[in-house]
Amino acid sequence: MSTENTTAESGGFIASVLTEIFTSPLQLLLVGIITFLVYKIFKSQTHSSPPPPKPEPALPKLKKRDFTLEDLKPFDGRGPDGRILIAVNGKVFDVTKGRRFYGPGGPYSAFGGRDASRGLATFNVTGGADSYDDLSDLNSFEMDSIREWEMQFTEQYDYVGKLLKPGQEPTTYSDEEEEDTSAQDTPSV
Ligand code: HEM
Repeated sequence: MSTENTTAESGGFIASVLTEIFTSPLQLLLVGIITFLVYKIFKSQTHSSPPPPKPEPALPKLKKRDFTLEDLKPFDGRGPDGRILIAVNGKVFDVTKGRRFYGPGGPYSAFGGRDASRGLATFNVTGGADSYDDLSDLNSFEMDSIREWEMQFTEQYDYVGKLLKPGQEPTTYSDEEEEDTSAQDTPSV
């Protein structure tokens, strides 16, 4: 069979289908319904999907300062600005951009506004100590784990200041220190 024959045959077939459609009211109705449904599906996909959520604007960077446990508490993500601070190994980090983890309803929300050190080391996500925790009973494996978490937080989040021991005076940070927000300058445990 030649190509010309095939083309002629398929052309004839299409022509006869079209004739069939346009001469039968029932076929015409079906074509109309299908066209309408395809149009509706296409329209619903292109127009009715909700716009993607706007990324929340980042909060202004916190001025460098030290915190007591009590000072930390309000920063659990439930405050008016939603800021979240967490202490790890004596250092306070602004973890607001990790809201999906530490914010209300997040899997680690119990760490928000708390010292998370012990919880992180002992795989306990239910919270942090209510009084100052010197972590002195933790074994070397657990302390290594805390230091690893501290490194991870240092890489991911802004360091804000130290977690103060009871009676410890807060540091007065100069504007130059303010510029350097790295956690490297405050050796801890
Ligand atoms: C069934 C057990 C667990 C599973 C399946 C799990 C899974 C995850 C996943 C998928 C992430 C997100 C990682 C990313 O997107 O960057 C994450 C983050 C995290 N996990 Fe878990 N996790 C578990 C238990 C724990 C436990 C016991 C702790 C500590 C007590 C913990 C602490 C964290 C923290 C702090 C983050 C957030 C790190 C950040 O700020 O980026 N997880 N986890």
